[in-house]
This record gives sequence, C-alpha cells and structure tokens, in this order.
Amino acid sequence: MPSSFVLCAHIITLQGSPTVAAADRALREFPDGAIVVDGRGRILDVGSRDQVRIPDGALIEDYRGLFLVPGFVDTHIHFPQVYLRDCYGGGSLLHWLEQWVFPGEAALADRRIAKAAAQDFVHALARAGTTTALIFGSQFTVAQEALYEELRRHGLRAVVGRTLMTHGPKAAAPLLTTLDEGLALCREEIAAIHPNSEAERDSLLRAAIIPRFALSLDARGFAKLGEFYAEQHERGVHFTTHLSENAEGPTGEVATVKKRFRVANYLDVYDGRIGTGRGRPSLLGERSTFAHAVHTTTQERKRLAKAGCSVAHCPSSQLFLGSGTMPWRKISEAGITIGAGSDVGAGDSFSIPTVLNAAWKVHMSAADRVTLSPASLLHLGTLGGAQALRLSDRIGTLEAGKDADFVLLDPRSDELLAKRLEATAGLPAAQARNQRLFALLMGGPRVHSTWVQGRRVPVTIP
Ligand code: GUN
Ligand code: ZN
Repeated sequence: MPSSFVLCAHIITLQGSPTVAAADRALREFPDGAIVVDGRGRILDVGSRDQVRIPDGALIEDYRGLFLVPGFVDTHIHFPQVYLRDCYGGGSLLHWLEQWVFPGEAALADRRIAKAAAQDFVHALARAGTTTALIFGSQFTVAQEALYEELRRHGLRAVVGRTLMTHGPKAAAPLLTTLDEGLALCREEIAAIHPNSEAERDSLLRAAIIPRFALSLDARGFAKLGEFYAEQHERGVHFTTHLSENAEGPTGEVATVKKRFRVANYLDVYDGRIGTGRGRPSLLGERSTFAHAVHTTTQERKRLAKAGCSVAHCPSSQLFLGSGTMPWRKISEAGITIGAGSDVGAGDSFSIPTVLNAAWKVHMSAADRVTLSPASLLHLGTLGGAQALRLSDRIGTLEAGKDADFVLLDPRSDELLAKRLEATAGLPAAQARNQRLFALLMGGPRVHSTWVQGRRVPVTIP
C-alpha cells in the first residue's frame, strides 16, 4: 500500500453538514494548516500543522503560501459542448440549441473528434479545480467510451450518462435514437460504470439517467423512463435533466413544454403527471438533480423538496442565454439543496469560482436581493454540490474519514490578489477570514493542482 502523506498549506473548509443557510458557522480556517492522507486516499486528519497527528514515515510536502480548499463540485455540465462555448446565439435557448448545439454535438460521432473532445474536456475540468462533475454525456457510444477512458485515466470523480433524445427538430436528427435503443444503451452504460456492490464503493464513477429535457422525449417515452428509473434507482443510479430554464415568450421552452404535454407545470412531465397517464412512476427522488429551475412555481418547488431533489444552479449560463435568475430565496427556503453548475457550453467557463462570482452578482441584483456570504459561496461550490449528489459522506469538506478531494490554489500568480490577501492581516480575525475567502473565490484564482482520492490529477496546468 502506498504510504500516507501530509500537505502543508493555508486550509479553508466547511465542517459537518450544514445547509447553505448555516454555512457561516461551519467555516474553518487553518492558515498554517496540514492535511494528513492515508495510502487509500482517505483523510486521516486536518488542522493546524502543529496539532495534526502524523503517522510515522509519512511524506511531508510543503505548499505553504498556497490555499487548500475542498475540490469544486460541478453539478451540471455537457461533455459534447466542450468546443461550444461562446456561440453567438443571443437570448433564446431553443434557437441556440438548433443553431449551434445540436450540430456541434453531432460532431462527436467521429471517433477522432470524440477522443480529442474527451481529453480536452477532462483536462478543462481538472485545470478548473473541479474534482467531481455531474456530466451530460454524448449520444454516441464512441464518445462515451472515450469520456470514460479519460475520466478513469485522470482519476476524476463523476456522475455521468448518455444524453437521451428520441425527439427533436431537424438539426437534432443525428442525435436521436428510438426509445428502445436509447434505453438499451443507457442500461449498457449503467452496467459498465455503476458500482455493483459495497466492494466497489470507492469507485469514482456513478451512472445517471439523463433525458436532455422535456422536449427530447414524448409522453410514452417519459412513462417508460419512469419505469426504467424505478428499477435503477434502488441501485443508487442518479437522475438529471433541465427544468424550467427559459421562459422567453409563447414560443419559449416553458410555454412549449406546457403546450406539447398539456400540463399545468413543467415539472408534471417528470413527475408522472402527463395527460391520462397521471400516476405513472415519477422521476423525482433523492439523487435527482434539476438544472436551472428558474421559472418554477411554488407548487413545483414543494414537490421537488418533498421528493428530496436538488437544483443545479447555473448563473453564468442563465446570464448567457438571458434565462433569468434562479429565485435563490424561494428555492433554498423550500428546503431544496443547491449545487453550482457551469453548464458549459451555455456557461462560458469551466471554473466553479467564476460561477460563484456570477451567483454573487446576480443575487445581489435580483428582485429578492440576497447577499451570499463567503461561506455560502464556498458551500455552493463544494459541500452543496456534494449534498446535491448525495456524496457528502465522502466529499465536500475536508474532514477525517472523507476522501481527500481538494484543490491547491496559488494566489501568488496574481500579484494584485496576493497583495489583497496580505492586506487582510490587519483586520479583525472574522473579517479577515471572510475577506480572504471572498477574494480567493471571486478572483478566479489560479489552480495549482487538483487532487482526487489523494492522487494528484495528471494534467499540466499552464
Ligand atoms: N436544454 C436542453 N438542452 C440544453 C443544453 O444543452 N443546454 C442548456 N443550457 N439547456 C438545455
Ligand atoms: Zn445544461
């Protein structure tokens, strides 16, 4: 067994399992800190350097001057959109999908492009300090195989599945399968990657069932998918999709969904409540993560909360597509867990700190104005995502017993940031701590290295 090791750095983490509203009290900082990791990649101890217990023979690596925080969790990202950021679409989700996304995703049918895309995608995640991601995969088996190979090779943690589409406009034709084909392919992928037993619990990959959004299947498809989900859910398989993202007029997403399925609420489509099929198996449950939820109603939020669902909040994507702002207060006060999502390619950055920066700004400016504290931002980018994915027993904070998933951030690469951090030394302790964390997250700090289960992800970070 490889030996245990210790990293010395300036450590900031949340502790325990607070909700986002209780994050402030859970914030811990160890300026002269150390994290002790065993040979299996599990955290043995975290704290001040002179107080942690260091096993005999442990290797000690000195990263003083760097910050060490829990790895970022991205709860919503699209693998086949790795090359589709900044597509000039402007304001309309459905138009942007047709003009750019469907043709762009179709390119991954080519094995050579798929391999390059998988490598670039995994590198971009690691370079951004993302240690865990919930990934909408490709429709093409060659691309999915390439993605799994790269994820395994780099040792990133992911919840992932193919993006299922049986219906769509002409531009989506290359991405469509029949329902039976789509479900058979999902079943094969789940069998190939999802842990089967307690012995495989350390596995970094987990499977998800992912219909692209309501407009990608028909009523029969959602009924069948409900049955499939009921069967797979027991095994710990996840579910994710988009929900109520863009309400742009009578031809926008939300209006089109309600009209096509003749439902009162968008969520009805996922909740077994379409037409005469009411009462069919629902896709809502623990490990169900809904991206966006910008235009949800009180009733929908209650149902999401009751079923234990989570929301992937993607403010940079919502800004890019003019989708509006997720109602932070209403979602969090309903008791729904919120994680951050980059939503690349509608989101224009892989960096979760950049998403947090957008979150802080949009909620400050929203009608239900909320000023997110530095600890809440850290929660959103780390523990909130882990809770959303029901992985917080393993990741999300730096505490003994959890897996050693963390990021080293280097403030010295940005002279102005470094000086801003130094200037906190003269402030009262709590203010200094808050300011350091805020400046670090908002400033999009340079990632020095990304570590999952105690292993440094092998990627060159320029
Ligand atoms: N809704 C359906 N597909 C997509 C997608 O690829 N990106 C976003 N942001 N929303 C979607
Ligand atoms: Zn998305």
